[in-house]
Parts: sequence; structure tokens; C-alpha cells
Amino acid sequence: MPYDTVDAENIRVMVHDFYSIILKDDELGPFFTRALGDDIENGKWPEHFQTLLDFWILMMIGRPGYNGDPFPPHAFLGRLTRENFEHWLVLFKEVVYRLYTQEIGDKFYKKATILAEQFIDNLGIDDEDDD
Ligand code: HEM
Repeated sequence: MPYDTVDAENIRVMVHDFYSIILKDDELGPFFTRALGDDIENGKWPEHFQTLLDFWILMMIGRPGYNGDPFPPHAFLGRLTRENFEHWLVLFKEVVYRLYTQEIGDKFYKKATILAEQFIDNLGIDDEDDD
């Protein structure tokens, strides 16, 4: 049965599933392994995992906890393309619609899409593609 409510426990499951998948992805995995290592249970991952958990709890439940700015770290990962973000969204979509009801999946996906567009804008990605 898909989750029909959002709480900190099922967000933990979502974040764990999503980043386990992205870490093994040929296109996006290397960005994460370079920054954080290749083992979601060890090294820099546990701290990052908590950050992502707090971030999605704030996004979806509005509970304070994440005080950072999600944008800056993405400026130092090497060249990210619009295709990278679109692929990130495809993987994210698969996970949230598998775990949650359609209505909640829509809410996660909409937030992620808005953020991805902001990242693309902030990183000047489409500007670079124009030249
Ligand atoms: C091509 C797509 C993306 C890649 C390759 C990527 C990769 C990464 C990496 C490697 C980090 C860790 C950086 C570090 O701590 O040194 C990070 C942090 C983060 N990412 Fe992404 N990301 C992508 C898209 C997104 C999107 C679309 C969102 C939001 C919907 C997002 C949310 C975050 C957040 C909240 C953090 C933590 C920021 C902080 O430390 O406060 N990322 N990302």
C-alpha cells in the first residue's frame, strides 16, 4: 500500500531509496561519489542524509530543521547540464510515485521540479547552452 500521509519516517524511506538509486546511476552517481563517497551508510553520507531528511521535512511538512541554502553546493560539482537535472527528476519521480499516493507524489514532484528549474536558472545553465 502506498503511503497516504507524509511523515518524517516515510520521508526517511524516500530519501534512502532515492539516494541509493542515484548513487548507482551511471550519469549522476559520480557527482555524489566525488563529493560524498560511494557508501550511503558511511563517510560523509550520514551527515548529508540528515541534511536531505531535514530539507524534505521542511518542504513537505513545513517543520523547521533545515537552515541551509540548497543552491551553493551545486555550483561546485563540475558542469551540470539541463539533461542532468531532467534525469534527476525522472529518478525522483519513479521513487515518489512508487512510495506514495498519486496526490502526494504530485506534491513532491512539483516541489522538486520548481527547485530544479531554480537551480538551472541560478547556475546559468541555459545561458551557457545558448553560446
Ligand atoms: C543534476 C542534479 C543534481 C546533482 C548532481 C546533485 C548533487 C548534489 C551533491 C553532490 C550534493 C552534496 C554537495 C556537498 O555537500 O558537497 C547535493 C546537495 C544537496 N542537493 Fe543536490 N543535486 C542535484 C539536484 C538537486 C535537486 C533538484 C534538489 C532539490 C529538489 C537537490 C537538493 C539538494 C540539497 C537540499 C542538498 C544539501 C544542501 C546543503 O548542504 O544544505 N539537489 N546535491
